[in-house]
Amino acid sequence: MAVQPRPRCDRTPAWAALQACFDAQGKSFDLRQAFTADAGRFAHFSQEAPHVFADLSKNLIDTSSESLLLELAAQCRLEQHRDAMFAGELINGTEQRAVMHFLLRSPAVGGMNGDLARVHETLEAMLAYAEQLRADTAITDIVNIGIGGSDLGPQMAVLALAEFAIPGKRFHFVSNVDGGELAGVLQGLKPQNTLFLVASKTFTTTETMTNAHSARRWFEAQGGTDVARHFAALTTNVAAANAFGIKTTFGFWDWVGGRYSLWSAIGLPIAIAIGAAGFRELLAGAHAMDEHFRTTPLARNLPVRLGLLDVWYRNFYGFSSRSIAPYSSALRRLPAYLQQLEMESNGKRVDAEGQALPFATSPVLWGEPGTNGQHAYFQMLHQGSSVVPVEFVAVKKAGHTLAGHHATLLANVLAQAQALMQGKDDVGGHKHFPGNRPSTFLLLERLTPASLGALVALQEHRVFVSGAIWGINSFDQWGVELGKVLARDIEPRLQSGDLSGLDGSTVGLLHKIAG
Ligand code: F6P
Repeated sequence: MAVQPRPRCDRTPAWAALQACFDAQGKSFDLRQAFTADAGRFAHFSQEAPHVFADLSKNLIDTSSESLLLELAAQCRLEQHRDAMFAGELINGTEQRAVMHFLLRSPAVGGMNGDLARVHETLEAMLAYAEQLRADTAITDIVNIGIGGSDLGPQMAVLALAEFAIPGKRFHFVSNVDGGELAGVLQGLKPQNTLFLVASKTFTTTETMTNAHSARRWFEAQGGTDVARHFAALTTNVAAANAFGIKTTFGFWDWVGGRYSLWSAIGLPIAIAIGAAGFRELLAGAHAMDEHFRTTPLARNLPVRLGLLDVWYRNFYGFSSRSIAPYSSALRRLPAYLQQLEMESNGKRVDAEGQALPFATSPVLWGEPGTNGQHAYFQMLHQGSSVVPVEFVAVKKAGHTLAGHHATLLANVLAQAQALMQGKDDVGGHKHFPGNRPSTFLLLERLTPASLGALVALQEHRVFVSGAIWGINSFDQWGVELGKVLARDIEPRLQSGDLSGLDGSTVGLLHKIAG
């Protein structure tokens, strides 16, 4: 079913009202005064969602801006768009595809058929394979070869859930076409103990195919014989994987975007690491967040509140970036994962119909785990000339038993959020902190498969919300194509020396490289 056009956000009455609200009070809003004036501020601007507690109270919002943002959501028909996604409508219009990653974490139901039946059939096969590998002590090293969504999600989750991982197996992630990466991993491996997972939705991506071919050459050169046992493919293009010579394949579908695919067969490394039960918990956590997003009234719907805040900051305050600071070493790849999720989804300058938009869309997303970031770029967050909203992620209970560390970690994350808001008066010089710098605080009880699933689904849906308000198609990625095409044109020129038709800078650089 074709998707109904929605009103453009900047043409709605709510947008004009938000602009007036920003001009009248948003610009001069002061968090410190807001807390003094309203003893109930924390209670109003914090909430529980499945597996995640969120404190939004240190953001530059009050009840009037918040209710206008909710009106904006209503006028942009956010709920209808959300429901269109959950109904399987073709909301990815440029590719004429549905967007149904949520289905990958929908529980099995009696008498299921169609997509849900296929999802569970593949899930069961993949989890059985994962269990078989976990029991196979000969396989000690799992090498995931994939890039973008076929790398970042599984890598992030395997690191995040290391506490739950099976001992005796090492996980390696090779993504870059820079051969140094694969060579470095292969150095420590033996073919008889290694399983290569070639993860690629399309099974055409240059980096992945180059690495997969090199891995197979290495395997054979080292005396490896049983390709069927030592290579598996995770892909929507099973025919291409078979043509490559891989017989063990786990499929998924074109309605799963690459950056939304860790719940599919692409999640196999996670399933091997944490087992079938752990993987099911990851899916269940995400499903709980799906249900929260699908059914909770907008005013207490966490992905909606976060996504609307993103719009408020990007389009009214003009903040061009957001920093993510997980105070958890296990979540150290979360910023990289979220970069793709946010910026490949919403880094677009046209609406879903291809019309240029006159307002800003995706912020730049960046970050590092805390406390490391404090000793690197937090200087700029506190005293730089630009305001960067920060999203802290903290975990209440540590996943280790070393004494003292966790209290220090928690004290630091609380202190940073406090310092950003409170600032410090020092007669305007080097030691002055302006304060009033916004942050969001997400708190997990423990970092478990379920809470990670919920946290990631929360982020997926908040990206959906801001993209829906902006009226863009958050599910295509045409912006990655041009560079791929030009690289294919340039590569043979490195050999042939043909410089015809190239710009002066590229000619100059090719000379320099050839010389
Ligand atoms: O180049 C961008 C992209 O298409 C991402 O969207 C995707 O996650 C990545 O490449 C990898 O694609 P594939 O899984 O098809 O190899």
